Amino acid sequence: EKGGYDYFMLKEIAEQPKAVADTLLGRIDGNGRLTLDEVRIDASALRETDKIVIVACGTAFHAGMIAKYAIEHWTRIPCEVELASEFRYRDPILDPRTLVIAISQSGETMDTLMALRHAREQGSKVLAICNTNGSTIPRESDAVLYTHAGPEVAVASTKAFLTQLVACYLVALYLGQVRGTKWGDEIHSQIRELSDIAKQVDQVLETMEPVRELARSLKDKNTVLFLGRHVGYPVALEGALKLKELAYMHAEGFAAGELKHGPIALIEEDLPVVVVVPSPRGRDVLHDKIVSNIQEIRARGARTIVIAEEGDEAVVPYADHLIRIPATPTLLQPLVATVPLQVFACELATARGNEVDQPRNLAKSVTVE
Ligand code: F6R
Repeated sequence: EKGGYDYFMLKEIAEQPKAVADTLLGRIDGNGRLTLDEVRIDASALRETDKIVIVACGTAFHAGMIAKYAIEHWTRIPCEVELASEFRYRDPILDPRTLVIAISQSGETMDTLMALRHAREQGSKVLAICNTNGSTIPRESDAVLYTHAGPEVAVASTKAFLTQLVACYLVALYLGQVRGTKWGDEIHSQIRELSDIAKQVDQVLETMEPVRELARSLKDKNTVLFLGRHVGYPVALEGALKLKELAYMHAEGFAAGELKHGPIALIEEDLPVVVVVPSPRGRDVLHDKIVSNIQEIRARGARTIVIAEEGDEAVVPYADHLIRIPATPTLLQPLVATVPLQVFACELATARGNEVDQPRNLAKSVTVE
C-alpha cells in the first residue's frame, strides 16, 4: 500500500505532481477561463463580497497565509488570515458580505469547525477548501471546493498542502475573473502558468538527492532557522513546522525583514539557516533585500541553505548550499519552494531514527478543541 516507498510520507511527496494536476482538472475551460460552477456560490454574491477571512490550523493555515497575498493582489478584496483556534474568541467583525474560507485537509478539525460555525451565526457565507468528501466542515459550509490530493495517510501534511494552495489560487483567480479587476490579463496568464505547474513540481522532485544528503549531514544539529519574504515567509513557516513535527528539532520560521528586529541575535557559527529566495524576475526589491539578508547572516557565521530559482546568479556567492527550483511567477513559487523543505524534514527525521509517518504526540485529525 506504500507503493514501494518506505513511508507514506515519501509516497505522498512523490504524488504531488498528480495531486496538483487532479485539483486543476475540469476547472479550466478550453478558453483558459475558470469554471467553478460545482462550488455553487453564485457570482452575484461573490461580486458583493467586501472582505475575506480565512480560517485554518497548522499547515492549512500556512496555505491561507499564501492565499492572502494572491487574493489581495488579484482581486483587491481585503483578506485576513486567522488561526481557527484564535478566531472566534476575539469577537471578529463579520457580516453577510464577508466571505469566510475554511481550509482543512481532513474536514474534521474541531477548531476550524467551531470557527466556521461562529462565522455562519454572524450571517457570513462559508466556503470550505477540503480534501475529504462528505466530511463535517464541507457539510456545514455554504459551498465547497474539493482538493483532489487523494487520501493522505502520513500525519505530516504534504500533498494536501500543495492542493490547498492550488485551490486557493483558483478561488483568488475566480474572484478576479467574476469581478473583473484591472488585472484581467495577469489573471489570464496566471491561469495558464498554473496549468503548467505540475510539471515543475515533478522537476523539483527529480533533483532532491543533494537535499537528502544535506539533511543527513545535519542530523546532530539542535536548531534550524528558516527565512522568507512575501509568499516565501509562510513557506519558511511551513518548512519549520515540518522539521519540528518530524525531526523534533527546534525550528523557527521568520519574515526575513524581521531579522534585524531580534532574531539575528540567534545567528552563531555554523547555524543552518534555510532561505527561500523570491524570483529575481518579479519585484526586484524583494529579491535584492533577501540577498542582503543572506549576506548579513553569513557574515555572522550562519551556514546558508539557499532555495533559489534556476538562473538566479546573485545568490551564488553567499550560498553554502544551493537548492535550485524552476522559475515560476512570484505568487505561485510556494508550489515548488515547499517541496525541498518536505524532503529535507523527512530525511532528517529518518536520519534521527524517528517514526516519519506517525510523529510522537500527533494525530492526523485533531477533533478536539
Ligand atoms: C502539519 C499538519 C497539521 C494540520 C492541521 C490542520 O503537517 O498536518 O498542522 O495541517 O492539524 O488539519 P486539517 O487540514 O485536517 O484541518
